[in-house]
Amino acid sequence: MSAADRADAEVRARLEALRERIRHHDHRYYVLDDPEIADRDYDALFDELAALEAAHPDLVTPDSPTQRVGGAPRGEFASVRHEQPMLSLDKCTSLTELEEWAARCRKLLGADAVLRYTCEPKIDGVAVTLRYAARRLVLAATRGDGETGEDITANVRTIRAVPLVLDARDVPDLLEVRGEIYMALAEFEAFNQRARTEGRKMLVNPRNGAAGSLRQLDPRQTAERPLTMFCYGIGRVEGAWQPATQTEVLARLRDWGFRVNPETRLAEDLKACEGYLDDLLARRATLGYAIDGAVIKVDAFDQQQRLGAVTRKPRWAMAYKYPAEEATTRVNAVEFQVGRTGAITPVARLDPVFVGGVTVSNATLHNMDEIARLDLRVGDTVLVRRAGDVIPQIMAVSTALRPADARPVEFPTRCPACGAPIVRGENEVVARCSAGPLACPAQLKEGLRHFASRLALDIEGLGDKLIEQLVDRGLVREPADLFRLRAETLAELDRMGAKSAARLVAALERSRTTTFARFIYALGIREVGEATAQALAQHFGTLDALRAATPEQLEQVPDVGPVVAGQVSGYFQDPERQRAIDDLLAVGVIWPAAEATSAGGPLAGETWVLTGTLEAMPRDDARARLRQLGAKVADSVSRNTTRVVAGPGAGSKLERARALGVPVLDEAELLALFAAHGLT
Ligand code: IVH
Repeated sequence: MSAADRADAEVRARLEALRERIRHHDHRYYVLDDPEIADRDYDALFDELAALEAAHPDLVTPDSPTQRVGGAPRGEFASVRHEQPMLSLDKCTSLTELEEWAARCRKLLGADAVLRYTCEPKIDGVAVTLRYAARRLVLAATRGDGETGEDITANVRTIRAVPLVLDARDVPDLLEVRGEIYMALAEFEAFNQRARTEGRKMLVNPRNGAAGSLRQLDPRQTAERPLTMFCYGIGRVEGAWQPATQTEVLARLRDWGFRVNPETRLAEDLKACEGYLDDLLARRATLGYAIDGAVIKVDAFDQQQRLGAVTRKPRWAMAYKYPAEEATTRVNAVEFQVGRTGAITPVARLDPVFVGGVTVSNATLHNMDEIARLDLRVGDTVLVRRAGDVIPQIMAVSTALRPADARPVEFPTRCPACGAPIVRGENEVVARCSAGPLACPAQLKEGLRHFASRLALDIEGLGDKLIEQLVDRGLVREPADLFRLRAETLAELDRMGAKSAARLVAALERSRTTTFARFIYALGIREVGEATAQALAQHFGTLDALRAATPEQLEQVPDVGPVVAGQVSGYFQDPERQRAIDDLLAVGVIWPAAEATSAGGPLAGETWVLTGTLEAMPRDDARARLRQLGAKVADSVSRNTTRVVAGPGAGSKLERARALGVPVLDEAELLALFAAHGLT
């Protein structure tokens, strides 16, 4: 062998080795969702392959991982006749119908037949067939009418979950694999989010996203859209392989490198199928992709053969449909809601419609641009989508059905809650109420709701209805007012009694002691979610340090960029906010780190209990002051209690204190103690 031949052989060997490794990692990443190496290392392999191929263009093979996006854009898709028709499915929506189907199968197969079923999610995407000849992908086609589809090979090659070459040894000479190409929900939402901000056309649903991507005439466009595929069956197969069951088909497809839905199960009887249907429906929102139901298939191929097909639908399979996630309805009005940050959001009021398993009567419209983009008018018929936990959205307007009296939506110039002018900053899509966060009742209510929420101060029992009343009656004008509420006042509110009022006061008392991170989150600073709040708490440690931080110092915190830093420093510079924070501290909102700072306080290490009525000062204020002096304040008297303050009406707690020999003070003595430490 000449030196040149040797060099050439080395290049070929390296090329093959790189391609094999990249194929392996593609399979780990795109098919198994279980990558073995870091993206950077993968990129290094890919770059090396690309460079080597650039230096040796004659050695580039069509199934090299670098060649997924290739070929010129075409004018149209060629027709492909399916050698084995692509069937469709019979569907049902009730267990009774499913049982009737199983009974028909049993009747046709004979009383002694033992039936087992595979249960598979019914993916809401685009059905395709893939043809592999001598282990190489040679054709990908849409279902079309079941007899003839379109050749979309160039586009399907860009989908990395679709192997271009099958590395396994035992692959049949000719293998047709069938499955569903789809767009994951996260990708669908990200795509629409981008389209919304860039003013581009949005996708109506993930299926529409997958179909539109596959229909691109330029494969480079398809490559930009994140598509993937689940394989669920076979078409024509030539070779020695004779699968006996659907379960076996799925297992082999998985072995050969295809992506098979991990939610697939083998059911021993119909009861198990029904369990599967319930379970899958319950988890529908968390699967990460859209399903419109499940497919139940008779597992054994000899039984499938005996059952056969009628009118292009196999008798051995049944689609069980779940409630649709899309429905059409009418928009009766568009109203404007004011959020915590003053953002004005248009909301469509709808004729109630059952969609995604619930009755929906409102849908968000995001902002005015969205209304313009949809060309929505009041009175229009719209397509509403509600998938998973996502709030209902209007995806499209049917202009064809528009009534003559449909009215355009007018954006208000004044805040519907407080009447202040609405302003829209330059380059901002969001319009906001110009009143301060405490001046506008809607902002205040939303702010309080956030303040009380589970991840914030977690005030149990402080629901929306109560917040409404508290703000509307002027009882709460800022968060600190919550801690000044007395049980007697609360008891007079609608749907409150003495008991629930007492419960709420106790809940407020519990929430008063919190963590620094929760406190920051509770403030509701724009752009500061739970994680950022935690990072800020950890970095700054104390509220004083955080309040004094410059934007530059804030940007030192992990994941805090200029936008967040600007919001945070702006927040703490606002005099209205400063006052509200000071008031929270004054009413005794506290967190352990701050307790630790007052650990050196005169009452450090002591545990106090207040009982009976205090006349000169609300009990909460007394508690706050005790905490300021370093004491813990407990609800019940125990051996750990160091002092009890007893006012008129003190009962069992006072008795217990006496029994345990705990020193008891009256209110006058308490006030004297406060005064001695400069607290009035
Ligand atoms: S089997 C002979 N299995 O549903 C049976 N179809 O309504 C052919 N689909 O065109 C289909 N997930 O697009 C089968 N696990 C699954 C499926 C599935 C989705 C789609 C497929 C087919 C349509 C039939």
